[in-house]
Amino acid sequence: MSFPARVTITESSPRDGLQSLGAFIPTEAKARLIDDLAAAGITSFDAVSFVSPRWVPQMADGAEVVAAVTADVTLGGLVPNLKGLEKGLEAGLTHFGVVTAASEAFCQANLNATVDESMHRIRSILFEAPEHVTFRGYVSTATHCPFEGEQDPDWVAHLAETLIEWGVQDVYLGETIGKATPYHVERLLAEVLDRVPVERVGVHFHDTYGQAIANTVTALEHGVDKMDSSAGGLGGCPYAPGAMGNVATEDLVWLLDGMGIEHGLDGLAVARVAKAFCDAHGLEYQSRAGRALLAAAERG
Ligand code: HMG
Ligand code: MG
Repeated sequence: MSFPARVTITESSPRDGLQSLGAFIPTEAKARLIDDLAAAGITSFDAVSFVSPRWVPQMADGAEVVAAVTADVTLGGLVPNLKGLEKGLEAGLTHFGVVTAASEAFCQANLNATVDESMHRIRSILFEAPEHVTFRGYVSTATHCPFEGEQDPDWVAHLAETLIEWGVQDVYLGETIGKATPYHVERLLAEVLDRVPVERVGVHFHDTYGQAIANTVTALEHGVDKMDSSAGGLGGCPYAPGAMGNVATEDLVWLLDGMGIEHGLDGLAVARVAKAFCDAHGLEYQSRAGRALLAAAERG
């Protein structure tokens, strides 16, 4: 067992963190969140999505957010179909996320498509995209579905392998509703890493049941060095009932610091930005490590 020396963190708060919120967060506030988190050391963002504004009104201003960001960082956009790709390219992005799911019921609820249809949409997106564009592929409900329960790791591994064969750079295992424990992550990675090289696998853990840090350690034990997190623990999916935030970036940074794994972020600076954002928009600040860091800073 050897842990990676360095981990690449993608910050999901601007997209996953905000997409389920009812009250519209103004475009300038979304862009400022990215700029402020960039100043805390974050270089890669899951920033926006180009999805149907009727399905996810909060993400309707993706192009405007991209235009308003001033920091020199990598901005990714989630696209569910060719129309999304077109809009993302128009906005000037070159990094995109595409999404399918292990579970039929979730795929239908989230994308109005069967898993097979969602995979075909992804294939056409990859086929149509200009050569310089890169993709990450998400397999959502990789361990649990809100409607169908536990998922088959072998099926997830098949979807992951197929996405890689079709040309995504990396495949991210989406633990959409935060029910998995290290037992489930272990079982999943055993199958996935049999078919996909570890350097092309990332994890995206939600923290609904407080398991995300334990699950992250399991992923690290397997050598996974790409992970999504969300400042302040913001997050959820509008079509996954009960899903709460992603693993908090501050909690992840505390873990990695403790393990001597490099990441390039300043945990306290992230906490300050996320706490101020949550306070400004009436959101609950959920990072345990962040609260402790802020309290310690206050004490001096
Ligand atoms: P549909 O209703 O079947 O689509 O939805 P449609 O093709 O019939 O279009 C319906 C309307 O949306 C039309 O507009 C289209 O033009 C428009 P109208 O003519 O009625 O005015 N439309 C679009 N507009 C802008 N951008 C687009 C787009 N596509 C259609 N790209 C659809 C199918 C896929 C569009 C819909 O189901 C959808 O947008 N789903 C996205 C839901 C979503 O964003 N979920 C959250 C992201 S996934 C996630 O969070 C999981 C993840 O974090 C990993 C994890 O946690 O596991 C990544
Ligand atoms: Mg998510």
